[in-house]
Amino acid sequence: MPIKTITISTAKGGSGKSTLSQCLAVQLPHSALLDLDPQLDSYHWAKLRGDKYPEKKIPCAKIREAADVQRAKQQLAGGGFEYLIIDTPPSHQGTGELRKIFQMSDFVLVPIHPSPKDLRAAYTTITALKGLNVPHAAVLSVANPRTSITADARSLLGESDVGIAPVVITRLTAYPETAVDGRTPLDLKGPNRPKAEFAELQIWLETKLGGKQ
Ligand SMILES: Nc1ncnc2c1ncn2[C@@H]1O[C@H](COP(=O)(O)OP(=O)(O)OP(=O)(O)O)[C@@H](O)[C@H]1O
Ligand SMILES: [Mg+2]
Repeated sequence: MPIKTITISTAKGGSGKSTLSQCLAVQLPHSALLDLDPQLDSYHWAKLRGDKYPEKKIPCAKIREAADVQRAKQQLAGGGFEYLIIDTPPSHQGTGELRKIFQMSDFVLVPIHPSPKDLRAAYTTITALKGLNVPHAAVLSVANPRTSITADARSLLGESDVGIAPVVITRLTAYPETAVDGRTPLDLKGPNRPKAEFAELQIWLETKLGGKQ
């Protein structure tokens, strides 16, 4: 099976792109990460993670251009990898490289913190993805699922015919607390809310990608 590429992108900074990239890499089986963001959040996170969880070691490489994605895929081929997750910088698609990476992706997830500013910024990414005909969807992130602003964001996206993940990634301090040493809330012992949300996100994503259900 060829490796499936999932890119995480939105024009807005601080919307949870790196956190979503890292958690997805932990949640999805046999995943590797690529970090296009010069801030290198995911790259440093993976370095901190190191060998803490041998069964969930996440290789991560820095990349600068679309050709690096192709090179990474060639290097990973035959290694049993199923998913390649690409963390990106906040960008209004100013560089052609991000557009090329979108076109090389099997799916692009657009994390949106439910606020008017974040929604406006996300629409520039969604418009670019629609124009390129790349499969994509929004996922409400760093959000309180029970607030009216989250419900409003969901309806606004629905009215604009934007695909949206059925699960909201709840705002919880466990995310920043675990990220400091290369973990995620999914690595914690016992059941927790992030585990339930990411398990649901995985099932939905696999359906979107036409794989296992
Ligand atoms: N679900 C969440 N609950 C609580 N805090 C979160 C959640 N997701 C992300 N955060 C925190 O919000 C901040 C921004 O998240 P993150 O770095 O993932 O966003 P980003 O979109 O990658 O930012 P940038 O645009 O700077 O790359 C971080 O401190 C992160 O730990
Ligand atoms: Mg980031």
